[in-house]
This record gives sequence, C-alpha cells and structure tokens, in this order.
Amino acid sequence: MYQSESLKINEQGHLEFGGCDTLSLAKEYQTPLYVMDEQVIRNNCKQYRQSMEECYGGHGLVLYASKAFSCKEMYRIAMEEGLGVDVVSGGELYTALSVGFPAEKICFHGNNKTKEELEMAVKTGVGYIVVDSREELSLLNAIAGERKVKQPILCRMKPGIDAHTHSFVQTGHIDCKFGTVLENGDSFDFAKLAAAQPNLTLLGVHCHVGSQIFDEKPFLLAAERMMDFVVQVREILGVTLKVLNLGGGYGIRYTEQDQPIAYGDYMKKISEAIKSIAHDRNVELPFILMEPGRSIVGEAGITLYTVGSVKKIPDVRTFVSVDGGMSDNPRYILYQAEYEMLLSNKAKEEKTASVTVAGKCCESGDLLGENVALQEAKAGDILAVLSTGAYNYSMASNYNRIPRAAVVMVKDGASRVIVRRESYEDLIRNDV
Ligand code: LLP
Repeated sequence: MYQSESLKINEQGHLEFGGCDTLSLAKEYQTPLYVMDEQVIRNNCKQYRQSMEECYGGHGLVLYASKAFSCKEMYRIAMEEGLGVDVVSGGELYTALSVGFPAEKICFHGNNKTKEELEMAVKTGVGYIVVDSREELSLLNAIAGERKVKQPILCRMKPGIDAHTHSFVQTGHIDCKFGTVLENGDSFDFAKLAAAQPNLTLLGVHCHVGSQIFDEKPFLLAAERMMDFVVQVREILGVTLKVLNLGGGYGIRYTEQDQPIAYGDYMKKISEAIKSIAHDRNVELPFILMEPGRSIVGEAGITLYTVGSVKKIPDVRTFVSVDGGMSDNPRYILYQAEYEMLLSNKAKEEKTASVTVAGKCCESGDLLGENVALQEAKAGDILAVLSTGAYNYSMASNYNRIPRAAVVMVKDGASRVIVRRESYEDLIRNDV
C-alpha cells in the first residue's frame, strides 16, 4: 500500500481511513461506499492557494475543477477554502449556486453549452464564460445584449501540445473537439472576433493540455505559447488579455509507480516563465487561473465494496466479484485505469494472490482491475480501492438500475453522510 497520512492499518489489522476503521464504515453505511477524507481535500486546497500566493503574489485564483467530484458539500469546502470553481454544465452550476457559491468566482466551460445554460450563466452573473466556438460567441453576445449586460469571457484555445496521457483525456492537441487552433491562426481570428462583440468583455484566454500528466514540460510549454499569444494580440490588435487560464491536469498517485510532480515546484516554474515573458515583452502580468480537479480530490477518496463470489478458473484467472463495478467506477472500462486495492479486514496479510476484480453489472467488461495484487479473498471480505476520489462518483451511472452509492466524509475519526445512497424509489422517480 502506498504511503499516505490518511491511510493506516490499525491494531486490529483493519484499514483505517481518515481515522475511521473502514470495516465499521462498511457496516454502518453499507457498501459500495465512497469515503472521502475532508482533511486531505482541505489541505490540497490550501496548498494550491499557498503556492499561488508565494509564487505569483496571489495575482491569480485557483478554481477547483468540479467535474472531478461534484456535490453540495464539495462546493461548500471549495468556497470555505477561498477557491473558485470550474463548472461544465447547468447541473454543476446549479449545484454550486445552491450553496451560495459566489458567481463571480465561477468559470463555465464546455464545447457545446446550450442556450439555456448560457442564459442561466449570464443571469446568475458567472464571472468567466469560456467561449468555445463561433456559434457560442454570437449566441452569448445576443443573450448578454437582451439582458443589457457586458458578459466577461475567455476564449478557449488549443496550444498544440501532445501531453503523454491517455488519448481520451488529451485536450491540448489540434485534433480535439475543444476550442480553436493556435497554430493555423484560428485562435487569433477568434480573439479578434470576440474583442469586437459589443456585449462581451474579452478578459483573456484559456487552455487545458490534458489530465493525469506527470511531466511538467507540457504545462510550461503551454504557458509560454499562451503568453506569446497574449503578446501577439496586444501588438496586432491593441487588446490586452488580462486573464490567463492554464487549466488543470496534474497527475496523482493511483499506484506506487505514479510519481506526481510537486505542485509548488511546478507553480514556481510557471510563475517564473510568465513573469519573465511579461517583463521581456513588456506586457501586463496576467491574472492567472488554474483548474486542478483530480489532484484536489483523487487521493482523498477510497471506495469500499463487499466481496461476493470468488471463482478460480484453473490456468485462466480468478474472478473476485464485488457489489459495485462500472456503475460506480467506469475508469477501468474506459481507460484501463489501474488502482491499488486491498482487503480492509486482512490489511496486514500479504498480497499473495493476483486476481481480476469484477463488478456486478451484466457486462463481461465490467471489471475494476486485472492482475490485481490482493490478499486471499473470500465472500464477506471488504475490498478497498484507493484513490477513487476523482471521476468516480461524478461518472457513476444507474446502469442495470443500480442505485448510486452513498458518499461519506471522514475527518479525524468521525464520519457523516454527504450524499445519501439512492433508493429504488429514487430510480423510478422520473418514470411515468
Ligand atoms: N479544466 C478543464 C477545462 C478540463 O477539461 C479538466 C478536465 C480540468 C480542468 C481538470 O483536470 P484535472 O486536474 O482533474 O486533471 N474522466 C477522466 C478525466 C477527464 C478530464 C476532463 N477535463 C478520468 O477519469 O481520468
């Protein structure tokens, strides 16, 4: 098991998370169960804010990318920690606003926002709308005009960077559905058009190179290219882009092999690069936005399951089936994502088995992992999957009409439900 302040093995040999015995949690709240450690989330938020303060004199704002894990309590925490948020749908925006999140600290993304979503954003005073296409630009200009407001916007662009990550989560290269293309002049034409819209205020530009990235080079390269663009726009159009949103994407530890970059170091390098370009090219130092999602909540979460059947197929494999699966964590089926797993009730025992962990959905591909090192499993054991705080609950589905699992927040040995488990009644609520 990788080392983490939150994870311990207690005297009974059980896995402990955030000071809570995971077997007691499983008993009290049932499984499958998402467990999030509040202290880890808050520490991560603080660390991001602090590095922005120390490296860039606080001339920026950290936005929590709420697609990673979105629920009312998470927006409350981000708000209390002084972060802004990135939302990508009317639903995320609605949830953030429902807890009183300040609209001016919300950044709204998406490559195809609907008219209703844009109207909602303008009406509620969202601080930054990241405009993704020409269609959106003219629609948003018309909506703002009708409401007689000047809506602040950023333009999304692809800086032409191939980050080394799974192709489904690469977003900075030319062949990608988001934003405009930098290298063929499309981004420049788009910025020119945006600056000319009477009801929009072009604040700046946005890019996001990808997700689960361990190498700092693509981030640095993106920052440099974006700064070059800021200079070009100032020189040719005479327009100052005051805001630079550099997106998120910092990798986290799923297994012992993963080596995340130290955020403080990265922030230092980015800040130095931006400051030196601004100084040398004589442009205003931009206000920076960062959008970490996974790195704020990913390692702060684990999922607990109960083992049901264990099928040993000689010379083939051993299937250990659990009471959840792709309905609560679709990341193996989507990206062959690897996770570290252990049996909570046998945490001290050695992992002598290599198994396939299967879910309960009616689908052969419904697996949580293959070649997983695990203690000898039998029915009734509690399986813990680590680092599931990001893109698990938020990507969960009701496939096979499986009710979505509850989310429990732990802190210093205490636990509380922050998202209730769905009931069968919830499943038929909208059926007519
Ligand atoms: N900003 C923008 C514009 C994004 O598109 C994303 C992620 C983020 C920020 C946050 O990136 P992060 O810091 O979390 O890497 N479902 C996939 C990840 C998709 C990421 C989408 N965009 C997964 O489970 O790996």
